[in-house]
Amino acid sequence: MKHFNIIFKPDDKEISIHAGATLLEAAGQAGIILNSVCGGKGICKKCLVNLEPGARQVLACQYSVQSDLTVTIPAGSRFFEQKILEHGIDTHLGVRPTVHEKYRQEDSTQKIFGLAVDIGTTTVVAKLINMVGGQCLATQAALNPQSRHGDDVVSRIAYAKTDEKLAELHKLIIDCINNLIAKLCKQTSIDAKQIYEMCVVGNTTMGHIFLKLPIEQLGLAPYKAFSLDAHDTPAAQLNLNINPDGNVHTVENIAGFVGSDTTAVALATDVDSVEEMSLVVDIGTNGEIVLGTKDKLYAASCAAGPALEGARISCGSRAVEGAIEAVVVNNGDIVLDVIGNHPPHSICGSGLIDAVAVMLDLCIVDKSGRFAEPDTLKGKLPSAIVSRIIEQDKQLSFYLFRAANVSERPVFLTQKDIREVQLAKAAIQAGTKILQRRLGIEDADIQQILLAGAFGNYIRPQSALRIGLLPNVPLERIRFVGNAASSGAQMILLNSALRAEAKRLARKIEYIEIAHEPDFQTVFAESMSFNNI
Ligand code: FES
Repeated sequence: MKHFNIIFKPDDKEISIHAGATLLEAAGQAGIILNSVCGGKGICKKCLVNLEPGARQVLACQYSVQSDLTVTIPAGSRFFEQKILEHGIDTHLGVRPTVHEKYRQEDSTQKIFGLAVDIGTTTVVAKLINMVGGQCLATQAALNPQSRHGDDVVSRIAYAKTDEKLAELHKLIIDCINNLIAKLCKQTSIDAKQIYEMCVVGNTTMGHIFLKLPIEQLGLAPYKAFSLDAHDTPAAQLNLNINPDGNVHTVENIAGFVGSDTTAVALATDVDSVEEMSLVVDIGTNGEIVLGTKDKLYAASCAAGPALEGARISCGSRAVEGAIEAVVVNNGDIVLDVIGNHPPHSICGSGLIDAVAVMLDLCIVDKSGRFAEPDTLKGKLPSAIVSRIIEQDKQLSFYLFRAANVSERPVFLTQKDIREVQLAKAAIQAGTKILQRRLGIEDADIQQILLAGAFGNYIRPQSALRIGLLPNVPLERIRFVGNAASSGAQMILLNSALRAEAKRLARKIEYIEIAHEPDFQTVFAESMSFNNI
């Protein structure tokens, strides 16, 4: 078959690819991950690249390679530089030697290491752990390379329809973890053969792909997992580059859409032993929530969609350089914080929540989410702010950044964008409300809200409260717990007793399929409103 050379700018990466491949595939082969929210269907328009010379814009997923090409990738189409949360909560780790005792005879010098891995839909975090003392020696993170086949689990499930495609996704995650292992070993000058144990957590789909278990049923009601159990698999069988006799332990899932990462978060945050009513929230494309006390714990998964990660928003992006990450009002106008001190070219989830909170405070949108007519705001708001409301394409928009020249892109929010935020927040809010009803509690009864995961750590809690993404509690009840899934994986890696504990916890937490609850539609409709305060 005929092959063509593709040069990617500004990376200056050159690859050869067969005729008919898409530019999305070619970029992937060059190690460049493009935004591909719709999984390459040509719908999301997030994979735009420029063909040189002339900077002709094309969708990478739709463009079929038929000649040698030079392609420039704009920063906004790139998936790579987004912030990755590596740290977790400070856990009091108990080291139970039984896990590493069995490997002592292999290496009497006691140089026995382990790996705690959290496979997220977007990011993969690996920690190298000294199995004797329990310390974390180094952490490495990477974007999940499966992202080129769609940003959310639904697109991955749709992609992996055949055994061949499932094997392809499986290989991508194994290669990604092997890369992280190589980096960790280089960073700490250890031999990968001295890594004898791994503990892996992730959402149920990621866990299934990692073990190459069937995932088709996860895409069909009633969304059953093929396996909820923990598995222990020899490293060699999974082609993981640690000691071939090493063991890879995966943790119990809770349900088809609440995976072992939530089990690990519940373990690390110790919600199973608290007296105070606690809500643990991990906001992502799928928001996972756990609510309860030591007496009863419920979990749910809320299909928030990717809006809060910047997808489906006119100027939205992930938390990449140049994305607006915070919006406040100061001196009669709005002030922006932009990642990397670049001129703004987009807005990411935390900026989006801030912007909507500001627009509510200023009455630019009302509690139903509708834009006010600019004329009605004249005299009530500073003119600098009113002048940011502009009608375009027959809908009102709020301009956060107005481009001074043609090479810069403006950043604005449209009426449709506000609706997308409403849908996402309504999904999380409705899920939380339904669990609250199960327990017969009001917002005020929630004593602590623990925000886990990458997104939770970058949002401003006051803005999340303002738009109703979180229950209406005093600000001081909200706490960030970092990458708690990764911390939980580390605990389970080191302590054999916690493996039994994780199993007990996964079975104790009762999963509620919120969409099947009789009052779901009503609660969801009520949650569309911004009437939290
Ligand atoms: S339009 Fe290309 S990935 Fe969505």
